[in-house]
Order: sequence, then C-alpha cells, then structure tokens
Amino acid sequence: MAWSPSWRVAALCAKAVEGAGLALFPGACSAAGCSLEPATRAFLEENTEATRSGSLTPEIELRLLTPRCRFWWERAELWPYTDPYWAIYWPGGQALSRYILDNPDTVRGKSVLDLGSGCGATAIAAKMSGSSRILANDIDPLAGVATALNCELNHLSPFPVSTQDIVGSEPAPWDLVVLGDMFYDDELANRLQQWLKRCVRTHGTRILIGDPGRPQLSGHSIQQQLCRVAEYPLPEPTRQENYGLTAATVWEFQP
Ligand SMILES: C[S@@+](CC[C@H](N)C(=O)[O-])C[C@H]1O[C@@H](n2cnc3c(N)ncnc32)[C@H](O)[C@@H]1O
Repeated sequence: MAWSPSWRVAALCAKAVEGAGLALFPGACSAAGCSLEPATRAFLEENTEATRSGSLTPEIELRLLTPRCRFWWERAELWPYTDPYWAIYWPGGQALSRYILDNPDTVRGKSVLDLGSGCGATAIAAKMSGSSRILANDIDPLAGVATALNCELNHLSPFPVSTQDIVGSEPAPWDLVVLGDMFYDDELANRLQQWLKRCVRTHGTRILIGDPGRPQLSGHSIQQQLCRVAEYPLPEPTRQENYGLTAATVWEFQP
C-alpha cells in the first residue's frame, strides 16, 4: 500500500504504534538536538519536506511527509522504520498548537508535557509561547529525531525528549499536559483516562486534549469529563488528508 492519505487513515484505525527499541536508533537521546545519529538525520532530511503551509499554525515550520516526498507514493513495506506518525501534523495537534500560540498565558512560565508529541509541533508552540520547562514524550524514537530537527528549523534551542512509555507510571508534577490526537485506539484511550485522572488528582495538573472528533474520544466515557475550550475549522489541505474531518476541538479534562 502506498504512503497515501488512505494509508494514514488505516494506520489510525490500527493498534497504537508499537514501542520501537532504542537499539533501532543508536542516536536516541534525552534532549532534542543531542548526538543525532548522522544516518538517521540524513534519512529524515531526505524523506521529508520542510513546510509551514496547509496547517492551522503557519508560524511553525515542520519536516513532514508530503506529496513531494518519495514515501508518500512508495509501497509502505519499503519504509525501514515503524509507521511515521511523527511525519504528519495531525488535526488534534494543530488545534492545540493554535490555541497555545493564541493564548500564551496557558503555558507562559509553566512546565508542559507534550504526550504523544509526534513531530513536536505542540511542544514547539509551548516553547515559542514562553513555557519554562518542556518535555516531548513519544514512544517512537524517530519522533524525537524529528522534534530535534523541527526545533532547529524554527531556530529554537532544544528541549528534552523522551521515548519511555510513561502512561501508567507515577505522574510527575507537570503544570500542563497536552495531548494532540492521542485518542485513536480504544485500549490507549482507557489507559490515558486512568493516568490523566491521576495527574489531576495528584498534582492538580491541567490537561488539554486536541481532537478532531474521533470515535475513540467522542464515544468514550471520558467525553463526559471534557469541557470544550476552543474549536477550529480545519484548513482545506488538512481536511483532504483526513477524510470527513472538518474541525478540531481543544478539550479540558475535568474528572
Ligand atoms: C496521531 S499521532 C499525534 C502526534 C502529535 N501529537 C500531533 O498531533 O501531530 C500519536 C502519537 O502518539 C504516540 N504514542 C502512542 N502511544 C504512546 C504512548 N503510550 N506514549 C507516548 N506516545 C505514544 C505515537 O508514536 C504517535 O507519534
């Protein structure tokens, strides 16, 4: 199957990305920008396009998989890594980033965890808006590399990234946890609901969720604990890549 929008929809219906071992990625690092393995970096630079068009946040430039990239059209089995969720700027992440850029007080002087950070755009929005401490967390090590490259692209000093699966572990005292398009799998949604509840109850952490109306969120019991914060119509290119989705909402989780 080609790397086409239809592949991407299929990927989101599939199970959550399996955690790739660090051994796959010798340059895995704890801070964006640290010892990026040259071959991995070269692969990403060769197979993505730097773009700021077609999203809700033209302020942020990102290396993404676009129709001008080989693997947009290539057979998926030729891709040498796990599914590249980090190479797409998902509608939920776009809405969250837009909200943060327009409402910098949400993050200014605050510690922010971007959980399931993918390309790192929402963490970058938080950095641009004055967050005092940021961690981008994604179980795919390549997402960390992409985030490092995207920091560079936006002339930002690097912030830490981690690939550990922290969902279910003892929550750290974050002021804010943001999750863009993380509710795409029923089992993951259950785990997130329980863990996010612990974050709120233990530390009073604020939780913001960006989502374009996926059934794994709207049909989940968590929906009754969400308050609408903002809603954004999606730009036409994002609509075309995400069949049937026309808007994305920022929700606050209030268990
Ligand atoms: C649909 S993508 C969203 C990426 C980004 N937030 C955005 O909106 O563009 C979901 C991301 O969650 C990551 N992910 C899945 N399960 C995870 C977990 N337990 N902990 C951290 N990241 C996870 C995937 O690797 C993927 O990059």
